[in-house]
Amino acid sequence: MVDMSTSLSGVGFPNPVMTASGCAAAGRELGQFFDVSVLGAVVTKSIMVSPRAGRPTPRMAETPSGMLNSIGLQGPGIDAFLDQDLPWLVAAGARAVVSIAGGSVADYVALAQRLPAAAGVSMLEVNISCPNVESRGEVFACDPVAAGAVLAAVRDAADPEVPVFAKLSPDVTDIVAVARACVAAGADGLTLINTLLGMAIDPVTMRPVLAGQTGGLSGPAIRPVAVRAVWQVHRALPGVPLIGVGGIRTGWDALELVLAGASAVQVGTAIFGDPSAPVRVLDELTAAMAERGFAKFTDAVGFAHRSPR
Ligand code: FUM
Repeated sequence: MVDMSTSLSGVGFPNPVMTASGCAAAGRELGQFFDVSVLGAVVTKSIMVSPRAGRPTPRMAETPSGMLNSIGLQGPGIDAFLDQDLPWLVAAGARAVVSIAGGSVADYVALAQRLPAAAGVSMLEVNISCPNVESRGEVFACDPVAAGAVLAAVRDAADPEVPVFAKLSPDVTDIVAVARACVAAGADGLTLINTLLGMAIDPVTMRPVLAGQTGGLSGPAIRPVAVRAVWQVHRALPGVPLIGVGGIRTGWDALELVLAGASAVQVGTAIFGDPSAPVRVLDELTAAMAERGFAKFTDAVGFAHRSPR
């Protein structure tokens, strides 16, 4: 038996496997495949202040070992989320990690103020790294100062009982600098990584495949990038809790991110081919931990940094 419990900034979770934002709306879709309370947490699609239609179609494309998405933050907005989706998650016994996104600091603040622990929110994940926005200037995670400004405002506005995590972009030269800025501004932890900005051109039509032209690359192709980001940030900021995400398909993939320094992991793109993937990954990760001789999940966090090899 392996003790799979984990803790993120003082909040306990029965196990470290979560869904990744954007891959299962607000979790209800997954309820037909498995009991969502079994997971460590369900992370919602990023919620915005107002309903949003997203980008035009086509907005998904397969790539070698991955996929591109150009959804553009489609969603029902905070009112519908609070009326319908959050109560469903709470009734289902899920721990809800609510991803929030905005076009301005004021948007993020307005969202954070409406998502207290009393409503059933276990954690806020501040999505400052969506690549599918109108302007690169809105990708706050590409600039340490802008990222810090969002996180300071959200930490100030949010319920003190609710940890605030920043979701960072790999599309930067120095992810540690952005991580440091977020933590200095008050972030309680970090989620690494969002998708990488990518593009596909159809050789038949000789035009971009996605209507939005560019999109976010996810799936197994990006796992080494996620491992590298978690490794670098854990080494620089060993006391800061990290959630690792990017291309996890199996328990062994998840273990790689844990060994790099992640205290929890998220399963995303794998859900599109196998909606039960998060539960399978949890079972496989538990077995992998036992096979490697860990009695407690937390003993494996950052293990790869320990010397001698
Ligand atoms: O386009 C999207 O909705 C993607 C969001 C994200 O990657 O954060």
